[in-house]
Amino acid sequence: METNLKEYLNKIEHLDYSSRLPTHASLFQNKAILSKIMWDIHSYNAKKFYKLNNKNYESSLEKYGYLTGKFDVKKTKLLKDIFNKCKKIELDPFDFHSDYVYEPRKNLHDDMKRINEYFEPNDFFFKNIPLILDPMKDLIEKENQFYWKVASCRIFKVKPNNKTQGYHKDDQALAIKKLFFYPDGANKEIGSTILKDKFNNEVIIDLEPGSWLIFENSLCEHQAYSSDNCLGRPTIEIDIMPDFHTDTSLSYTGINSWYPWFPISDTEFDIKGLLNFNDVENRNLKRLAGLCNINKCDSYKFPCEFSDYYDEGSSIFSNNDNNESKNENKIESHIKEDINDIIDKKGLVIFMFTFLKIIPLVFVKKLINRFK
Ligand SMILES: [Fe+2]
Repeated sequence: METNLKEYLNKIEHLDYSSRLPTHASLFQNKAILSKIMWDIHSYNAKKFYKLNNKNYESSLEKYGYLTGKFDVKKTKLLKDIFNKCKKIELDPFDFHSDYVYEPRKNLHDDMKRINEYFEPNDFFFKNIPLILDPMKDLIEKENQFYWKVASCRIFKVKPNNKTQGYHKDDQALAIKKLFFYPDGANKEIGSTILKDKFNNEVIIDLEPGSWLIFENSLCEHQAYSSDNCLGRPTIEIDIMPDFHTDTSLSYTGINSWYPWFPISDTEFDIKGLLNFNDVENRNLKRLAGLCNINKCDSYKFPCEFSDYYDEGSSIFSNNDNNESKNENKIESHIKEDINDIIDKKGLVIFMFTFLKIIPLVFVKKLINRFK
């Protein structure tokens, strides 16, 4: 069942637009809510841990919401080489790993294709980006006030375009930041990034070739800057996420993978007590699936009565297209819900009385189904 649930979620998340069901959107939203809660707590703890172990530092990134810098001539040349060696590809919105937050909306996919050209990271990219990123380790730690890991990377070029996305916040987990490398720089001629800083000043990023920008993409409004006359703005994007120790190695799980749903990854440590990666992930997948029922709840339960429980017979987890068995499952699950409601609301004695009334109904429904 554990594998089935993960496989099921992976399958529905990769269905084409027309095959999606409303239930799938509910599961996505539940996953997003759980994810936000976990990232908030993880990010708070990661910042607290960093502050406990380091001297006080006034972060410009935290103060203004963005920070820029410039690489030397050698790194600028390397950055241009890295970008130029990557092959252009068509954006595939379904190229993401199921363990990662992805953008599911078709209108946003259309916007991404309209505004950007995308490129595939190759061996040269993975071998050489660390020469540029690794020396930034301490600066990124201090400015973020946390140890960090790479959540995802992306290579794209903002196309000449009169209309970009419009001002928006990315609404990802708040501590996650976008780090952009601009091989050709960023300005009004080639294209840029425009953002509102923490003091609500509008800033059009104006940088020389071989520069970088890191910004709080979920706290500061921003959009790509372009025009019909722009030359196009090459960008290498590295998304940064908080952790308890820094690991600068690159992670790539697909062009539409943004960051792990849950702030946890597999490790070589032998972690016991049902707290290893697979156990934690599986428990949370079950919780998010069970959350679909939370709005129907009208009575209190102690956590042990619903934690990590989900109905294996529920049609949500069924890949069986047989309508008869689906209907039978539905009827049985309605009956189960009715019984639970009666016990919760009226107590055991009244339940027994009602039970004697319901039992014949169950048999009649079973008999009807058998002769259908
Ligand atoms: Fe954005």
